[in-house]
Amino acid sequence: MLDRIEQYKEELINAKATNEKEAEELRIRWLGKKGIIQELMEQFRLLEGNEKKTVGKPLNELKQLAEQKIQEIKKTFSARSEFSLKEDPTLPPYPFFESGGLHPLTLVRKKITWIFTTMGYSISEGPEIEDDWHNFTALNTPEDHPARDMQDTFYITLNPLRLLRTQTSSVQVHVMENGKLPIRTISPGRVYRNETVSARAHFQFHQVEGLVIDKGISFADLKLTLQHFATGFFGPDTKIRMRPSYFPFTEPSAEVDVSCSLCGGKGCHVCKHTGWVEIMGCGMVDPAVLENCKINPAQYSGFAFGMGIERLAMLKYQIPDLRLFFENDIRFLKNFKLETAL
Ligand code: DAH
Repeated sequence: MLDRIEQYKEELINAKATNEKEAEELRIRWLGKKGIIQELMEQFRLLEGNEKKTVGKPLNELKQLAEQKIQEIKKTFSARSEFSLKEDPTLPPYPFFESGGLHPLTLVRKKITWIFTTMGYSISEGPEIEDDWHNFTALNTPEDHPARDMQDTFYITLNPLRLLRTQTSSVQVHVMENGKLPIRTISPGRVYRNETVSARAHFQFHQVEGLVIDKGISFADLKLTLQHFATGFFGPDTKIRMRPSYFPFTEPSAEVDVSCSLCGGKGCHVCKHTGWVEIMGCGMVDPAVLENCKINPAQYSGFAFGMGIERLAMLKYQIPDLRLFFENDIRFLKNFKLETAL
């Protein structure tokens, strides 16, 4: 019996299968109910006590080897079939998962950053918990300035020197204070204002700030940049117009309207029958702001602009209620698949 065990061992070591079917045949031959191991076990039971002692160990080893070998062979085939499934790109995915989408605010932010980064703008970020200097004072809005009333501010109870930023204009100050010139950057981010939640207002929303500082930057540069942005975002036929306005940190300041993309400028409910919709504020950076950030206004000039991401998304997708962006109702989000073309 010892000889037979030795022979079987050799056979096992050299055992091979070239496909799944052969592997299963091997399993039946070695480990099946009427297989070699089972048969040897039955013979073993009939042996005398002395013989049992010498055969027991090698037989057990053969059994273990058979189990190990068959498992190994089987594994290579199941691994291979998984592999080939992954390799074939025409097979439908399984299990089937519905692909997710991007939030409309993410889509709009991506589109805006794409337009500006392809013009060579960098992206900069600043903190959402700010100090008074970066959010207001450095931006030419000292404590008693009436313009502070334009933005209802959340102050932090534990530390009244800190507040939740009301505008991404605060990032301008951080970037200028860094001292590297020239500057060409945009700053997307979340802002907070103490407003009652309604279809048109929320206590949190998102803005994108833009800032360019260099020698010889003029209002014409600003206008051309914003025209390029408007056509990139709303389509090639989009026109812009600039209306004089007021912001503490820009002089002169303007508000920018785009021709209504819904009616093409003829007049509809979205543009309130004017043909135009307001999309952002902008202007030439006030020399006082440059000085606050240690930039010499005699050498450098620049422009800035700021827009609301929610507002742009509402116009682009005709979303009537601001609250929809924050409720995360799946029926709403489903409309914005990854492949949603912007
Ligand atoms: N920070 C302004 C706001 O929240 C928007 C803005 C207007 C930003 C004019 C600018 C700008 O940079 O030049 O209402």
